Order: sequence, then C-alpha cells, then structure tokens
Amino acid sequence: MSSQIDHLLNETRRFAPSPEFAADAVATADLYAQADADRDGFWAEQARSLHWHTPFTQVLDWTNPPFARWFADGELNVAYNCLDRHVAAGNGDRVALLWEGEPGDERRITYAELTEEVKRTANVLEELGIGVGDRVAIYLPMIPEAIAAMLAVARIGAIHSVIFGGFSADSLRSRIDDAGAKLVITADGGYRKGRVSPLKPAVDQALGDRGAGPQESVEHVLVVRRTENDISWTEGRDIWWHEAVAAASSEHEARPFPAENPLFILYTSGTTGKPKGILHTSGGYLTQAAFTNRVVHDLHPASDVFWCTADIGWITGHSYVTYGPLANGATQVLYEGTPDTPHPGRWWELVETYGVTILYTAPTAIRSFMKLGREIPQKFDLSSLRLLGSVGEPINPEAWMWYRSIIGGETAPIVDTWWQTETGAIMVSALPGVTETKPGSAQVPLPGIGIDVVDDEGTHVGNGNGGLLVITQPWPSMLRGIWGDPERFVETYWEKFHDKGFYFAGDGARLDEDGDVWFLGRVDDVMNVSGHRLSTTEIESALVGNEAVAEAAVVGAADETTGQAVVAFCVLKESFLKAHDVDGIVDILRRWVGEQIGPIARPRDVYIVTELPKTRSGKIMRRLLRDVAEGREVGDTTTLADTMVMSTIQSKITEK
Ligand code: PRX
Repeated sequence: MSSQIDHLLNETRRFAPSPEFAADAVATADLYAQADADRDGFWAEQARSLHWHTPFTQVLDWTNPPFARWFADGELNVAYNCLDRHVAAGNGDRVALLWEGEPGDERRITYAELTEEVKRTANVLEELGIGVGDRVAIYLPMIPEAIAAMLAVARIGAIHSVIFGGFSADSLRSRIDDAGAKLVITADGGYRKGRVSPLKPAVDQALGDRGAGPQESVEHVLVVRRTENDISWTEGRDIWWHEAVAAASSEHEARPFPAENPLFILYTSGTTGKPKGILHTSGGYLTQAAFTNRVVHDLHPASDVFWCTADIGWITGHSYVTYGPLANGATQVLYEGTPDTPHPGRWWELVETYGVTILYTAPTAIRSFMKLGREIPQKFDLSSLRLLGSVGEPINPEAWMWYRSIIGGETAPIVDTWWQTETGAIMVSALPGVTETKPGSAQVPLPGIGIDVVDDEGTHVGNGNGGLLVITQPWPSMLRGIWGDPERFVETYWEKFHDKGFYFAGDGARLDEDGDVWFLGRVDDVMNVSGHRLSTTEIESALVGNEAVAEAAVVGAADETTGQAVVAFCVLKESFLKAHDVDGIVDILRRWVGEQIGPIARPRDVYIVTELPKTRSGKIMRRLLRDVAEGREVGDTTTLADTMVMSTIQSKITEK
C-alpha cells in the first residue's frame, strides 16, 4: 500500500482551468473567503436560493451535538422547490428529463409535465392514507416514475426509502421492516442487459410468508407497468400506478413543512451485518445538494444537459439525479439500462444523441471502458462534453488521464468528488474554473466545509502525512441519524473523536505537500466494489447462513476494474462434508450470496479452506487473507495462534 501511495504522491501533472472556462464558471475563488469569513452566513445565503414558505431566522443549531438542526424555524416544500417554482418562473416548458429506456424507447418530460405527474401521484398517496412522517419504500428501475415517486412522497411530507432494484427479496424485506414502510412502490419489471428484470416477484416474496417476523406494516403496493411481463396480483393490496395516477386530480397544493422534516432514509452498509438507515432531512439537505450541483458541476440550468449515471437506489442518484438538478431547474438525461446493451458504445451514443455537456460517473465505469479500448468512444461525437465528474471511489491517475483525453477531448475539467451517503452531498472536490486539478487527488474541501486529516488522537498530521479523514464542522446536508438507532449514530461517527467533536468518516487519507487530500480507501470492514459499499460482516453472515458453511471470512481484494472485489474464505461443516459431495460448492456459495443480498455482493472468489487464520484471542486476521487474495507474500504471522494455517491456505489456493 505505501509504495502505491508514494507513487501516487509523485504525480506531478497539473491542469489549470482554461481562461474561457473560468470566465463563465459558476464557482469563483471568493467563495472560499466568503465562507471563511462567515460560515453560517455563507450557508444561509445558499439556502436562500431555495423557495421558503416561511423564511428561517436561525441557521445552525449545534447546541445538542452531534444532533444538528439547520434552518430549523424555516418551512419549505422540497417538491415545490424541484418543480412548481420552475413552472411559476416561466420555465414549465423546459425539459426536465430526457429519458431513454434500455430497448431504446424515449420520453421527454418538461417541468410542467413532471409537476402534474407528481401532483397526481401525491393525491394517490394521500388517498392511500400516507401522511406526514409515514415511510414509503421505492423499488423501481430508472424510469421517470421513480423520480416522480420520490418527489410525490416528499411533497406530502412523508419519508421515502429507495431500495436499489438489484437488491434481493431478503434485503428488501429487512429494509421495509426496519423502516416500517406502509406502502411499496414498484414496477412489473425493468430492462437490464437486454432482458426483463422482474421486480414485483421480489416484493411479493418480501411481503409473502412473514413467518415469525414483525407485524406487517405494508398496506398497499403501487405497481408501475413498464415491461408488461406476467406478475401475480394480490387483490386489495396491489394497485396499478397508471390507473390510480390517471384517475387522481391534477391539483395538489404543496404544503410547507419544517426544514428538519425527514426527507428520506437510505440504507447503506456499515461494519456490522445490519445495514443502517441513514436519515436525511429537508432544508439543509436540499441546500447543499443544489449548491454543490451548481458549483462543482458548473451547472448552467438554461443551457446544460446534465447526466449523472448513478441509479436512484444510491445516494448519488438521490442528490445528483433527483434533488440537486431538479432544484436547480436543469435538463438531464436519465437512462434505464446497462452501459453495454445492446452495444458497448451505448453511453457515448447517449452523450452524442442528447448533447450531454456534463457527465458525472464512477471510476469503475471509466476503467471498464478503458479496458474495452478507446475505439469505442471515438466512434461518437463527444464534443458537447465540457465538464467531467467522478464519484464513489478513488480514481487512479491512469483512469483520470484516460477520462480527460478520450472522453473530455483534453479540455473538459475533471472534478473528483469525495462524499458519502452520510454526508448527503459533495464535501471534497476541486472547483472547476478555480482549482488547478491533479490526477488522482480529490483535493480540497468545498467552501463552508471543514475537513482535516488527523492521527488516532485527532491531531492534524501535517502536509506530506497520512491519517484519518475527519469532518470538523457540522454541514447542512449531514445525516441527522440512523433510523431507529441513535446510539449507533453516536457510536459509529462521533465517539472516536468525541473530545474534538469531529465526524469520523471511516476513510484513510493523505495530505500532499500542497495540502491536497488523497483518499486511500476505507479503514474499517467496509469494502468498495464498483463504487458500491458492502460490508464484510454482512457477506460473512450470509455465508454462514448456508447449511454447508461453518465459518467464513470475507476480504476486499484489489481489483483492476471494480476497485475492490469480494473474496471469501469458507470452512465447511464436518457434517456437511460427510453427507454431501462438495463438487460445485463454490458456485453454489457465490450464487447463495447473490440471492441473500443481491448480485453486487456475489464474491469474485470463494476459497474452501480447513481453518481460518486467527489470533490467540480468536480474532480473524483479515490482513493475511487479503495478502493471499491479492497474490502477495503473506505478511507477519507471528501473532497467529497456529502459524501453519497460512501456509495450508496458501498451498490450497495455488493448487487451484
Ligand atoms: O470510501 C469513500 C468512497 O465511498 C465511500 C462512501 O460510499 P457511499 O456512502 O456508498 O457513497 C458513495 C457516493 C458518494 C467513502 O467513505 N468514496 C466516495 N467518493 C470517493 C471515495 N473515495 C475516494 N474518492 C472519492 N471521490
């Protein structure tokens, strides 16, 4: 790791913004000085670019840390801010969504049309008895209804919990139960990789045999018709979206709600087996999502075509598909399918067709395109692109340079943006038009954001040194808690640097000689696979849930394309070995994890071993397993209870 970091820190290429770009840039250098002079005043000014039904007089209330309240005496309606106000300002005819389905079907939806759809949907939700504070689970493909559903929930002051369509019925069930959702919004299916990927059966299964589980909270399932595949139907519970929405009134008044009204819960993996429901509220979240979308993506809403490729099931899709761009009145591309269907140039074809000017995507996607070769993007006219963004994991300088030259035509600035589900919006990034960029570094905290790299005691490490990334000041879009578990919120993020009041992000980072931040990956048991967060513990519990497995250890191993890959080491049960033929067990276990959690969690490799390396106190030494998984010489084994274990594991693996 350290030689890799030294190599990175020797990166000397620098790209200054062009004078033409800088002249028209949304961000200006004086934002830093403004925020430094009066942080609260700076955020208040950003918040005032939203529409407040009742203007706020308080900015930050930090009297009960770590429970922050922003703009708490103000009232607003999030959906009104994303829709009605643009129509009221005369921009109703502006296209909000340039949608394309994977099979090539298209829809262009204006702000006026989306506003009407959301009003109707809001009426449907209210007729179904959904009110302020109720939870609505959304399990949809990337279709316009997904955005309409989120905004309709927000419009009536309810709370959405979007669950990525790739999660299994089990994952869906645990999220529905944890949030106590009253309604699930889903579709018959969506198109993925040229096939229908059914969603409704997973909902049926999640709501089906409840066994000894908690009392059923779900009263209705609202079903969007997308693929027209056969689905089963529960009379009285299931309702077709198209019928209900068409029958509903197109009049709906957006009532004001307090700024701290919860907006959504989004589940993400932590270090334990149980995903945590990250809670975000309204005013502060929308302020920072909209502000960062403007200054970091250099968004000019009247002329840009923005495209963030994230699924709405992740935080990036919440902040930079639904809330940021729509609050800013932007025009954006929304694409349902996978990048390589029906051909590997699909994304670049979309850029050309819609004249995309700003592209925001993940390093893992860039690396897969790199692997396929530059000939594919070069078949398309990408000259409309003027800004590129990266998110989700560190972007290696090679991928950064490829992105710049092949996709950005050597001119489009690249912003590498660091943030998390918990931070709600971008926290660390260059400002295009202002910052000289460096391939591989996310660089500097945004204006109004306090970031530091510290040692275990919370002391600043100084330039040229590595440590832990902390956030030193509360920020508007910070998580307000973990749904139903305030202790876990305090413990996970605030306990480590309790005396300093720092938020512990769980990321390692290093400051270079200029004080720029280089992210080095997670320091906990969280993996980052293709920019998706996965917990080693969650996958381990899934594995030991299989009848064959006695013990399991999971590590994230470096992978050229996906950043990290899931590698599992399993010890099988004696009883299982006696009674079964274990041929094919590796595939069975890989599939099993896919079924339990979702295909993204499926291990790349499963190794069957006879023992796991443990310390004398019984702790699994994942560091050693990572060495094996990455094909390195195994490090120091002296603290192992049985020092032979590693050579047995190693020989087992080289045998393969
Ligand atoms: O490790 C960091 C990595 O992704 C984690 C957050 O994951 P998630 O909550 O799923 O949100 C991803 C999208 C915002 C962080 O703790 N990460 C995210 N962006 C970057 C990054 N690591 C390095 N550089 C980034 N730009």
